[in-house]
Amino acid sequence: MRNRYLSAALGLIAVGVLLGNPSFSQTAMEKSLYERLGGYDAVSAVVDDFAGKLFTDPVVGARFFGMSDDSREGFRQKNKNLVCAVTGGPCKIISRSAAQTHGGLGIKASEFGIVAQHLVDTLNKFNVPEKEHNELMTIIASLRPDIVEVEDQ
Ligand code: HEM
Repeated sequence: MRNRYLSAALGLIAVGVLLGNPSFSQTAMEKSLYERLGGYDAVSAVVDDFAGKLFTDPVVGARFFGMSDDSREGFRQKNKNLVCAVTGGPCKIISRSAAQTHGGLGIKASEFGIVAQHLVDTLNKFNVPEKEHNELMTIIASLRPDIVEVEDQ
């Protein structure tokens, strides 16, 4: 009887050790969206492409008019950290909240649609699979109420 308790206890300890082991937990559980997107290099390349589209867009490009190269670099970096962090990556959010930074700009729903479509185009360009594509777009869509102030559609 004592032996049975002992082996049950050892079994529980073994399970505990396995679950506490990061490599075991990672294979047993689904990888983070950040990892499935391809990690920091992939996030960085996606944001660079997306930001380039925003800055040169005939409509929303006007919102970024007059920004210095340094400010544009800061904008890209803030977005890289944001995407990295909200998808489960090891980055710190270095931007203020979406409500703080967009509040008062009078951003229209149609502009939000243009920005979201640029991200969709970038994700397609990088062949991001549908599941990861949809997960990221769901996160971005959740920011809409903090960003859009004018419902023009
Ligand atoms: C789609 C989701 C969006 C995300 C994730 C996003 C993200 C960000 C971030 C991280 C910043 C930097 C905030 C800071 O300086 O702390 C920012 C700033 C800004 N965003 Fe957005 N944004 C989004 C939508 C939009 C839309 C729809 C517009 C308008 C067309 C817009 C226009 C701007 C402008 C004008 C700034 C300030 C740039 C500056 O002067 O530094 N954003 N955004």
